[in-house]
Amino acid sequence: MSRTPHKVVLDTDPGIDDALAILLALASPEIVLRALTVTGGNCPLEDGVRNALNVLALAQAPHVPVHSGVALPLLRPPFTAPETHGDHGLGYATLPAAPFGSADEHAVDAIIREIMAAPGEIVLVAVGPLTNVALAIRREPRIVQAVRDVIFMGGAFRVEGNTTPLAEFNVYVDPHAAQIVLQSGMPLTIIPWDITREVRLTQAHVDRLLRQGGPLVQFIADATRFYIEFHLNHFGYAGCSINDPAALALVFMPELAQTEEVFVAVDVMSDLSMGKTVGDFQRITTHTPNARVVTAFDSERFVELFVERMERLSRLLPLA
Ligand code: RIB
Ligand code: CA
Repeated sequence: MSRTPHKVVLDTDPGIDDALAILLALASPEIVLRALTVTGGNCPLEDGVRNALNVLALAQAPHVPVHSGVALPLLRPPFTAPETHGDHGLGYATLPAAPFGSADEHAVDAIIREIMAAPGEIVLVAVGPLTNVALAIRREPRIVQAVRDVIFMGGAFRVEGNTTPLAEFNVYVDPHAAQIVLQSGMPLTIIPWDITREVRLTQAHVDRLLRQGGPLVQFIADATRFYIEFHLNHFGYAGCSINDPAALALVFMPELAQTEEVFVAVDVMSDLSMGKTVGDFQRITTHTPNARVVTAFDSERFVELFVERMERLSRLLPLA
């Protein structure tokens, strides 16, 4: 018997892999995408809001509200990733302008409203800097108990960072927001760069998708061409890390992952290690674990599922 769909709010900084996570949510019957809440990150906030709207229009999903959120980190200076996602956030892809706009309600208020309106039901998937989430906690602390789960793509524990030698992008951009979330007591699952750097969409996957034809797969090809080039030049990887779709999949396929209960903290003091996430995997300290950290992930099974669902979604959309 099919389960009642999971109600998801996706907090995002779209961003190429964020855009793929939005498409995966729309292609997954196990998910009801209640809202997109946008934060500054991969690209400036206004680009992220436009990208979210245009991706929803591409997928013919005007029913999903897009809420603009906080543009800048709580304390740190603005930091974006044009070298990774392109000057406007979607690589080489260009999309027609959506015929609809963003909601009037602020992202922080939307996160609070969605969670408090359905206690125990909302899964908040956060795949950007945690600024919106941190301010939602400060504005309405009761969301800590009311949210069903928070799944966060971020952090680098036992590998080099992707933004500094130590830090992963989402945490590095706003480490203070990450600290608020980590200290909040929220039910928190973290899928870190340790894991997602190995979850790769390759050119062969993209070529397979292109055999479908149509604007959706052309978008994926144009966006990921930039992203694949970056990963090859910057990391020497063949393919691109689809970090955010992997995080989203944990909502409906938790069996993809193995997790450990870990005490996690973040450095907000040192310029050298700013944004470094530290996990007490060996239980050396006496701190109580505050997160479930993904320590293994079935990347091959997930990427196949992702490609299959993009193929299916593209067949549902008109070719022209
Ligand atoms: O470090 C990878 C994460 O930072 C991903 O969510 C990517 O989209 C960027 O936001
Ligand atoms: Ca992201």
